[in-house]
Amino acid sequence: MKTVIARLSDNSDANNLIFNEAGQLLREGGLVAFPTETVYGLGANALDEGASSKIYAAKGRPSDNPLIVHLSCVEDASKYCIVPEQFYKIADAFMPGPITVVMKKKDIIPDTVTGGLDTVAIRIPASEYARKLISSAGVPIAAPSANISGKPSPTLAAHVIEDMNGRIDMIIDGGSSKIGVESTIIKLIGDKIVLLRPGGITVEMLSLFGEVIFDKSIIGKLDISESPEAPGMKYRHYAPNTPVKILVGSDDKIFDFITDKSKNDKIGVLAFEKDRAKIEKIGVVVLSLGDNSDESASHELFSKLREADKYNLNAVYVKAPDKKGIGLALYNRILKAAGHEIIYL
Ligand code: TXA
Ligand code: MG
Repeated sequence: MKTVIARLSDNSDANNLIFNEAGQLLREGGLVAFPTETVYGLGANALDEGASSKIYAAKGRPSDNPLIVHLSCVEDASKYCIVPEQFYKIADAFMPGPITVVMKKKDIIPDTVTGGLDTVAIRIPASEYARKLISSAGVPIAAPSANISGKPSPTLAAHVIEDMNGRIDMIIDGGSSKIGVESTIIKLIGDKIVLLRPGGITVEMLSLFGEVIFDKSIIGKLDISESPEAPGMKYRHYAPNTPVKILVGSDDKIFDFITDKSKNDKIGVLAFEKDRAKIEKIGVVVLSLGDNSDESASHELFSKLREADKYNLNAVYVKAPDKKGIGLALYNRILKAAGHEIIYL
């Protein structure tokens, strides 16, 4: 299949032509990858069973892992699910934005989209490009991240091209995703907020609207018999081919450990720019997480995990971030990339 690659620009007339073409492809049952503020999505018409099932084939995704339904405005949510009062409070505060809410689905949403569950995940992206595409399609858009299943989510069109060229109808290039990790996913139970996946809307922000309860899959390892509330959280994820290992300990202990490892192995470290010179001096590859903040690390993480494979490394090491703010999302993604392997120093 020939994949059309279309780059958005400052020219709104040219962009509108792209959104019109993409909207038509989506209405006709095609697959279109598009930018959002979190990561790139792989979209299909969420009301078209055949179209959404093509997503699973293109990604190699297990069919029990449901898709997020993207809408252009909060008002549309009640067309597709039964909306509790608490949703509107959350929506007023955080939507459009990097948050997804799981609610009881209406029959209009096909089972292929929800992996057979009676709930549907709803998100209104902050990215204007994403919302323009949804409006232009005139239908809700079911979209997982636009990567091959198991690989790190794409934060650049180049990543989507790497994974999806030849498998889908169109890729819209809208530049680099601002946040870099996927949306926060929550479920509402009365006044309580159950966190299924941490993301850009943090626990601290959500706590203002009710008690936040963590699903066990977020920082713990599930037993084989357990299933998380968000089916996707049980799969190994975000993983490059290079093994990723998390280090817990002081900066000095970590530096000594890395120095030691580098004597026998070719290794890389995910590290901030401020530490680059020191680490490169001992012959270790630095995969930069940018300036010294969890926001910057979140923005860089997936891109640098993909880059790791280009160096033929024995392993990539990363210091565990603090589990505060967006650091919790970062920790959760690194933990999954590492297959839960933590080295305590
Ligand atoms: O930021 C994002 O959320 C991106 C962009 C494209 O919007 N999308 C994304 O989708 O990350 P995906 O498919 O990679 O992750 C969706 C997660 C999966 O873990 C899935 O199991 C969960 O959402 N999910 C979807 N529907 C659900 C439901 N009804 N109940 C519980 N979890 C659900
Ligand atoms: Mg994904």
